Amino acid sequence: MRNIDQDNITEAVVARFADCEDPRLRQVLSALVRHLHDFVREVGLTEAEWMQGIRFLTATGQMCDDKRQEFILLSDTLGVSMLTVALNQARPPGATEATVFGPFHVDDAPRLPAGSDLAAGAPGEPLFVDVEVVDLDGRPVAGAEVDVWQADEEGLYDVQRPELGQTRRARGVLVTDDAGRTHFRSIVPVAYPVPTDGPVGQLLVATGRHPWRPAHIHFLIRAPGFRTLITHIFRDPDPYLDSDVVFGVRSSLIGRFVHHDSGPLADRPYSTLAQRFVLAPQA
Ligand code: BEZ
Ligand code: FE
Repeated sequence: MRNIDQDNITEAVVARFADCEDPRLRQVLSALVRHLHDFVREVGLTEAEWMQGIRFLTATGQMCDDKRQEFILLSDTLGVSMLTVALNQARPPGATEATVFGPFHVDDAPRLPAGSDLAAGAPGEPLFVDVEVVDLDGRPVAGAEVDVWQADEEGLYDVQRPELGQTRRARGVLVTDDAGRTHFRSIVPVAYPVPTDGPVGQLLVATGRHPWRPAHIHFLIRAPGFRTLITHIFRDPDPYLDSDVVFGVRSSLIGRFVHHDSGPLADRPYSTLAQRFVLAPQA
């Protein structure tokens, strides 16, 4: 095909995928090209803007390494991560909702017995968490793995603190008992900004957006026979619950944190949280 112009180039490109043997790849790439071309047409993209886009994506790639994934951060801040979660992680009514995974989970978090202090020295107000894991009928799920991670009082995860090296803190993996329960000590989560020292941070500034996530604790819960749940529990009040930079807040995921000026659990002010997670059965 010759004499390609703005009216026929889209179908010309899509036609080149005709011999692609993987039908899903053909479908995805054809749709991607159609939407990309429509985008270029809709905004009337200039050559200077095309070059700016190329530079932005190049810088995004150059920011990535084994600890930093700037492309995922871009996806998160453009709502693509949460849209993908919403499409793929819908649960039956009554099951705990899923939300974004985020970049700060590690596979080698310490496995800890019930009652442990996950904070392991991370600064913050003490928090005592009681977890219950049940099925859709409210029956306890014994032996569920409850993987927890969170930022410290300064809004930083352990992996964001080079001075900690491989030391893990404010994270751990527990297992529920026969009553589907476990408990641990940690610290009260605080709101924190996503990393802003890269191109995604520049994009947020250029578009007048703030970089904040409302205070939350991450949970990944696995149990045989159930769908793995990746979610957060958010703390209310928080100024960013309605403007989370990665669009991850669900009302059902706001936990009942209770503040205590004093009490039997610590010799300073502390908070408690009792949280029930309802797992959906494996499809
Ligand atoms: C997080 O909650 O850890 C997170 C999620 C998305 C982007 C950055 C951080
Ligand atoms: Fe987080």
